[in-house]
Amino acid sequence: MSVSQKLSFEKSVSGRTGVDLGAPDFPSVDAAAALGGLVRTDAPMLPELSELECVRHFTELSRRNFGVDTAFYPLGSCTMKYNPKVNEAIAADPRFTRLHPLAAAPLSQGTLGMLWELGAWLSEMTGMSEFTLSPMAGAHGEMTGIMLIKACMAARGEAQKRDKILVPDSAHGTNPASAALCGYKVVSVQSDEAGLVDMKALDAACNETVAGIMLTNPNTLGLFETNICKIADLVHSRGGLLYYDGANLNAIVGRARPGDMGFDVAHLNLHKTFATPHGGGGPGAGPVGVSRELARFLPVPFIERRDGAFRMSEDRPESIGRIGAFYGNVAVCLKAHAYIAALGAAGLREASAAAVLNANYLRERLKKSYSLAHDRPCMHEFVLSGADLPGELTTMNVAKRLIDYGFHPPTVYFPLIVKDAIMIEPTETETPETLDDFAAAMEAVRREADESPGLLLDAPTSTPVTRLDEAMAAREADFCWRPDED
Ligand SMILES: Cc1ncc(COP(=O)(O)O)c(C=O)c1O
Repeated sequence: MSVSQKLSFEKSVSGRTGVDLGAPDFPSVDAAAALGGLVRTDAPMLPELSELECVRHFTELSRRNFGVDTAFYPLGSCTMKYNPKVNEAIAADPRFTRLHPLAAAPLSQGTLGMLWELGAWLSEMTGMSEFTLSPMAGAHGEMTGIMLIKACMAARGEAQKRDKILVPDSAHGTNPASAALCGYKVVSVQSDEAGLVDMKALDAACNETVAGIMLTNPNTLGLFETNICKIADLVHSRGGLLYYDGANLNAIVGRARPGDMGFDVAHLNLHKTFATPHGGGGPGAGPVGVSRELARFLPVPFIERRDGAFRMSEDRPESIGRIGAFYGNVAVCLKAHAYIAALGAAGLREASAAAVLNANYLRERLKKSYSLAHDRPCMHEFVLSGADLPGELTTMNVAKRLIDYGFHPPTVYFPLIVKDAIMIEPTETETPETLDDFAAAMEAVRREADESPGLLLDAPTSTPVTRLDEAMAAREADFCWRPDED
């Protein structure tokens, strides 16, 4: 094993040190007297390295990271776009970061005003009446939104009767999970040939036991639900509400509004549409907007503006209560605020146009090498299928081989309704040159699949480890190093 592949413990040499702390300039304390039986009897097992070895070790590790700052990352549904660094600088400004959450309102006007303004902008962009910024992720927003629907049904005296939430079979897994978490039975609505909600299936499923439907538009196939107004009319006429999963808002921002489509509740993934690096599970923010009817149920606290001054209020008697420790992930909200302020309305329209253009550019080129799930113009993402790959090759083999070409693989095997799905979201921040490079790699992998499939079966060959048991790595993750007995 080369030095660069060793753990810091394996590089350790007894007695080697990287720092000299010098003699302490404070009086020594008798640890045994101070801590009694808690004092350890042997020294901790820590790696002993020189400063240079330590720097090399962590630099080497950091170079193994893959991120948007390194290369193209077309992970469908995840919107792995480039986020301008200026937003990070603004979010790190001590005038925001050093503010205590419980600081008095007169001392917090800047932050409160920024959050209030962001809520107002989101309302304008989505056509919703009011927003809460409390939820800390998309899925957290979904849970909050479904709680709001439940509160509304209870206020209408229909909570017992309406115990179901409809979810299309193309939905992101968090949708049925959020509905189930809130105590609803989940009823799946199938998609039609065109990849859209099947209107007949919806008609059959939507009855007086249904509290609402969760939809994302464009859906997870990257297709715009062209029947959305009919869907809204149908669900509303049967007494249900519409929930908008705004994870895909980046495809329509500045152009179409969920509120105008008939949605009653909407969450937005600020970390997707409005510039925060997204990955590894966070950090995120999933603000929830509602129609006028549902505003009284929104979580507390909320920001009020009175006589030009801002303050936090809990005065909302019918609120579903607190859904987080305080008021959302302020740093992510701040980045979204900075991003929206920088782009303005025209810039946001341009961003959604570029997201859709980039996806269609790649889709048109790649459909010559791979089969396309639905051959019609897409929005910000599209789905190929690896079902017709030759021999024993699968979608997973294509994904692994792309790593050798220096690209992060697209999302695979989701959405579930496309066999062996390969879901590609190029995002608006990529140049035509990068899209061409990626398309060329995908085409080369396809040629290899036909001519030398072994290359795909063995891939990746350029990484420190090759094929891992991914399910086991996720379910039985063990990051502990234990010393040998001797
Ligand atoms: C369509 C869709 N809905 C919901 C979510 C959940 O968002 P989050 O990861 O912020 O919880 C995602 C996340 O990728 C998504 O793609």
